[in-house]
Amino acid sequence: MTQRTLVLIKPDAVRRGLVGNVLGRFESKGLTVVALEQRLIDGEQADRHYAEHVERDFYPPLRAFVTSGPLVALVLEGDEAIEVVRAINGATDGRKAAPGTIRGDLSVSNRENLVHGSDSPESAAREIALWFPDL
Ligand code: TYD
Ligand code: MG
Repeated sequence: MTQRTLVLIKPDAVRRGLVGNVLGRFESKGLTVVALEQRLIDGEQADRHYAEHVERDFYPPLRAFVTSGPLVALVLEGDEAIEVVRAINGATDGRKAAPGTIRGDLSVSNRENLVHGSDSPESAAREIALWFPDL
């Protein structure tokens, strides 16, 4: 089934010059870029994006991180895109993520893990509406 999913290429990836590497993996897989924009977000946008996590102990440093520099927000489309993107991203903790995944190849952090991908159709719909309300 064709799906759309919201992806963030986070500020660590932009700082490290890895946007092309990360985006290339999604494109090479066969996913289509439907929308793409570089943005510097404020804490309120971070809170809306990570609404499920705002009360967690790890949230304050995560909020500081995602607002620390520009990120690239995009919508990708393809067959089973939500699950496909999360498989390409790898496990949350870069130290544990499998080699061959973005996080497994390029991150050794549980916070600065380069990418976000929506985790369900409901999350994808909410996040796409939040980041790209005109889509
Ligand atoms: P989560 O939704 O659990 O991970 P994923 O990005 O794989 O869906 O967590 C959101 C982000 O919060 C995660 O990408 C990195 C950060 N995070 C931490 O900084 N510390 C933690 O202990 C966890 C679980 C996540
Ligand atoms: Mg998540």
